[in-house]
Amino acid sequence: MARDDSLLPSHIPDWASGAVYQIVVPSYMDSNGDGWGDLPGLISRLDYLQWLGVSALWLSPIYPSPLLDMGYDVADYTDVNPRFGTLADIDRLLEEAHRRDIHILLDFVPNHTSHEHPWFKESKACRDNPRRDWYLWRDPAPDGGPPNNWTNQFEQSDWTLDEATGQYYMHSFMPEQPDLNWWNPEVRATMFDVLRFWLKRGVDGFRIDAMVHLYKDPLLRDNPPAEDSSPEKWPAWNMLPAFSQDVGGLQEIVRELCGVVSEYPERIFIGENHLPPERLPLYYCSGLTHPSNSQLLDLEWDAIHVRRMIDRYEGFLTADQWPNWILGSHDNQRVAGHLGLERARVAAMMQLTLRGTPIMYYGEEIGMHNADIQPDLERDQLALRMPGRGRGRDFQRTPMQWSGEANAGFTHGKPWLPVADDFEHTNVEQQRDDPRRILNLYRRLLALRKEHDALRIGRYIPDVLDKRALVYVRQADAERVLVVLNFTEKPIEITPRAGGGRLLISSYLDREGDYVGAKLSLRANEGVAIELD
Ligand code: NOJ
Repeated sequence: MARDDSLLPSHIPDWASGAVYQIVVPSYMDSNGDGWGDLPGLISRLDYLQWLGVSALWLSPIYPSPLLDMGYDVADYTDVNPRFGTLADIDRLLEEAHRRDIHILLDFVPNHTSHEHPWFKESKACRDNPRRDWYLWRDPAPDGGPPNNWTNQFEQSDWTLDEATGQYYMHSFMPEQPDLNWWNPEVRATMFDVLRFWLKRGVDGFRIDAMVHLYKDPLLRDNPPAEDSSPEKWPAWNMLPAFSQDVGGLQEIVRELCGVVSEYPERIFIGENHLPPERLPLYYCSGLTHPSNSQLLDLEWDAIHVRRMIDRYEGFLTADQWPNWILGSHDNQRVAGHLGLERARVAAMMQLTLRGTPIMYYGEEIGMHNADIQPDLERDQLALRMPGRGRGRDFQRTPMQWSGEANAGFTHGKPWLPVADDFEHTNVEQQRDDPRRILNLYRRLLALRKEHDALRIGRYIPDVLDKRALVYVRQADAERVLVVLNFTEKPIEITPRAGGGRLLISSYLDREGDYVGAKLSLRANEGVAIELD
């Protein structure tokens, strides 16, 4: 079918208009009983993912790593952690996934390495080591303290003193994650070759971790205080990261990364950031980069608020900047935990009918909740280093719930993180054959996106503004689909401007094909998509 480039920009591969499904590899499927998910386990679930209808998988970091930060502490960029498998398993994953028309994105972690990376060991060895300048080393401030006031989410300085060499090194995250020096041309060239290593193997792109940290103020000036700073907040939030994140110069790095990825056709990358929507257009380049849109994370469930957010974001994007939508992630609470299952269904319908690439988080499709994890079983360093503060991220990273069997069918061994205790009634096996459960809602929505260009790539046209419901039309050529999402717990009647038509889907999964007039009746927490006359 000919493609209308005014809808999906020509530089975006068709597959990237489908859903990306984020997988925390250690939690997806264990094949060897060691309690950790692995690549062979994931390969064994590709049939499920094809059945579900996703277009691409984004895998959490799979590289050798001490796993202090779930793999976001890389000790070797061009190999696979034996806990997860081998390079041969990656090759098999690529082959098997591509055979099913599923694309693979790796998590690329360019801002920092693990302290166990040989580069850092060399860099730390002595001041005149050739790799010294691969990391950010600075002399102490005149009072002997850190070179500036930057702090991180661990409520610590971004600088750690190395007693042996008398200098501080920078880390935007934990001290065990030293930041690479992206001003050093050798570092850039080496990291670009890392991308080529994986692109040559056939990966379809990357999610770029901590993209906004890659470039820092060359003078490393102190960050200014935030306007709303207060003693109750974490120190990092009392400061405006004006000189440590999203700094001029970052765009050039992103363009260079883009240049490398574009050496290979049909690839994309998604750049992680938590910037406000007006900053996002800056980080698109030749359509390859998709600066992640995190506005739906930890969503405030208010139709007017959400409508304004969508309209603002849409308003900032130019015609060749393709949107994306993220509801949940390994760093945020689970959607069904945060909103409840009924609203999570409506949220799913929103995510999968808005214009742009939906980026799903594993387990959302079965409504996995935030798990309760006993303090002695926590793994995340945010919990372990700041106990009792509720900052840990383990509850949203628990094993995928495949069945009602022991350990939810995830492992024959002892799972690295406990399985959430609702697995007996929240699991794939049970929901698969139940036509009304959330799993089939996701599957049907993903299928509808493929069947209707209006939903896959159509324009976004806001309809009536209503505090009870979010209402919009998607349009591709003559095809128009109206989406109405009741944000309330009560039945409502609403008359969208767009008119009536045939119901493609209700989030209740029970009245597909019904004809509805211009005045619509919706049940509590009901979302509908209607093919307009
Ligand atoms: C962002 C990742 O999403 C998060 O999980 C990680 O801890 C930091 N970057 C550091 O890599």
